[in-house]
Amino acid sequence: MIDKNFIFPKGFIWGAATASYQIEGAWDEEGKGESIWDRFSHTPGKVYNGDTGDVACDHFHRWPEDLALMKEIGLHAYRFSIAWPRILPAGRGQVNQAGLDIYSRLVDGLLEADIEPYLTLYHWDLPQQLQDEGGWPARTVVDAFCDFADVLSRALGDRVKYWTTLNEPFVSAFVGYEEGRHAPGHTDLHEALGASHHLLLAHGQAVPVIRANVPGAKVGITLNFSPQAAASPSVADRDAANWADGHINRWFLDPLAGRGYPGDMVKGFGDEMEFVQPADLETISTPIDFLGVNYYTRNIARSKDVGEKENAPVTAHPNEEHTEMGWEVYPDGLYNILGRLHFEYGFPAIYITENGAAYKDQVGPDGRVDDPARLSYIKRHLEKVSQAIDIGVPVKGYFAWSLMDNFEWAFGYSKRFGLIYVDFETQKRILKSSAKWYGQVISANALD
Ligand code: FCB
Repeated sequence: MIDKNFIFPKGFIWGAATASYQIEGAWDEEGKGESIWDRFSHTPGKVYNGDTGDVACDHFHRWPEDLALMKEIGLHAYRFSIAWPRILPAGRGQVNQAGLDIYSRLVDGLLEADIEPYLTLYHWDLPQQLQDEGGWPARTVVDAFCDFADVLSRALGDRVKYWTTLNEPFVSAFVGYEEGRHAPGHTDLHEALGASHHLLLAHGQAVPVIRANVPGAKVGITLNFSPQAAASPSVADRDAANWADGHINRWFLDPLAGRGYPGDMVKGFGDEMEFVQPADLETISTPIDFLGVNYYTRNIARSKDVGEKENAPVTAHPNEEHTEMGWEVYPDGLYNILGRLHFEYGFPAIYITENGAAYKDQVGPDGRVDDPARLSYIKRHLEKVSQAIDIGVPVKGYFAWSLMDNFEWAFGYSKRFGLIYVDFETQKRILKSSAKWYGQVISANALD
């Protein structure tokens, strides 16, 4: 049963999220071009078990069934992303009408079911052709992104009001171009820095394009946040925590908030950053209507510059509880991040655009999927959202990651994040007990 104290402000939006490459499949159907994730997952050794998104949840064909499940849960809103190469197979230029039609039908279906579409333009599946021209490290991608934003907002702007330009540019730039764990799999810091700048610039340049095409649009961007704790009070560990905070949190937040790139990080990276042109920072800080927050865990930072023997003993330890990703369960981190965003940066509205956990779910002998750990994870994080609202943080909605089990990037199908269980052999879907509980929370918080 739902605790009476678990009641959120009137109008609070309850949703669930997905991303195109993680669920759609149909990777080469109906005129779709190749994306960097198609190329990457087809490259041996890049993704666990050789898994690819070729079929994924087959959502491309089964979306009406998935929509019915969203309805059954009682979602107010659905956050999904657009496969750019479905719309513009070569990244720019020729529009593939069939690709537009698919999303248009999905949007119509959502609205008919009274589910508000929250559209993300870019959740990591860059057209391969643009990568061949240099990808995000090349400035030419910025105009291509604006064309994409223009085509989409013209086509769907009469029905879609909530637009997110990018999902987690940190991951696109640094995991894709410096760490190489994601597409396109490069390992070059200079490229990653250029990519981060062009992602931010593409965002800033696209905001007015969307606003021009969509009357009353709400436009924002989603960042991933991870609070950093120093492993000990040593100067080295505090420096390490500050560095990680600068890299993951401030590198994107500060320029968006009009503060430019954080000086300590620019110095630390020691890069010329010749790709930053005079008016860019102004474009990047174009005011947004909301900030999307993705939160999963915190990080405890230990210096790598000072040897274990010379450093102070570790005094900050993670909680025992971890998810299947190996991520510490740390709900307080969400409260901290929300408080900091509000008091230090002051965005007009915040949505939790992702929060959730992977566990080893199994179908029981009775055909049900019981996932108490996920339910508890979500519940404890929602309690923190509620506490943040109590201290004045303008959190307007919460999207569970994910609506359904899906292709978890380099982990393939080995990590299940869904409220809905997916049997990847048969494509059968089963609502997990967390989905049913989430549905009760939603109905206890009915919109009217
Ligand atoms: C986020 C991504 C999302 C999913 C979750 C677990 O970084 O935005 O696609 O992979 O992590």
